[in-house]
Amino acid sequence: MLICDHIAALREARSALAGSFGLVPTMGALHEGHISLVSRARAECDHVGVSVFVNPAQFGPGEDLDRYPRDLERDRRLLESLGVDLLWAPSPGTVYPPGYQTWVSVEDVARGLEGGRRPGHFRGVATVVAKLFNLFSPHRAYFGQKDAQQVAVIRRMARDLDFPVEIVVCPTVRAPDGLALSSRNSYLNPKERAAAAVLFRALSAAGEAFEAGERDAGRLRSIMRSILDGEPLAQVDYVSAAEPETLAECGRIESFVLLSLAVRIGSVRLIDNILLPHGGPHAAGH
Ligand code: PAJ
Repeated sequence: MLICDHIAALREARSALAGSFGLVPTMGALHEGHISLVSRARAECDHVGVSVFVNPAQFGPGEDLDRYPRDLERDRRLLESLGVDLLWAPSPGTVYPPGYQTWVSVEDVARGLEGGRRPGHFRGVATVVAKLFNLFSPHRAYFGQKDAQQVAVIRRMARDLDFPVEIVVCPTVRAPDGLALSSRNSYLNPKERAAAAVLFRALSAAGEAFEAGERDAGRLRSIMRSILDGEPLAQVDYVSAAEPETLAECGRIESFVLLSLAVRIGSVRLIDNILLPHGGPHAAGH
């Protein structure tokens, strides 16, 4: 595995790799969720590149940029063992050199949900991912369903800016109690960690109502909210039942729906979602 932290070196290493190329963008502190993306890329592509970059541009003031977990040596060993060809681990000054002033802003689909609560977040995400697409020219890029709005924003950006890349979305990897794996779970104390299972319980209860025929999106939001309200350590930021591609809130659900929520457990803000029915419009068979 080649490790690059300068652009010229990365371009040279990338151009030496013929055949199909899969890219997995990450912020490091790798867990089984990230590993599932890398394994899928490894299975589907001749070569795999992974980026590990805690992107300052997608953190707001007062967010956790400084305390975000970082362990490049552990990540490096793990990626090496997974058969990754190229590891891109640049410094912030390499990605955003002095005088940097070019940004990618996706509009409507980046406005609600996470975009509404974290102003500038998706501008940071879209910009860094566009730069990765330019640097790597991947045939496929792998993202997790865990960050559903991020997927919608990147799909839109790739289409709008004519990036010749296939966006591959991988299922959310969960702990046995349903909590979606996240680097931020490490901030939870044991009581909070136990309470955090309420996110998936709320999504599952609304999912069961949907499977039983409920198509009133307002009812599904109420089901999620009432389950979250039953957990004293949980403070609801939002619950949503939205059209999966545009993320517009649904009234009556005609076909697919993305149920998503953001909840504070203590001081830790967690997000999760499920697509219904079964994996949504991009699932195999649809
Ligand atoms: P990060 O949070 O490190 O996540 C990297 C990728 O792993 C994302 O596509 C995310 O959706 C996916 N992922 C995280 N947890 C997952 C889980 N439990 N199951 C499946 N996939 C999971 O998302 C980012 O970094 C950044 O915004 C990035 C795209 C790298 C741009 O900076």
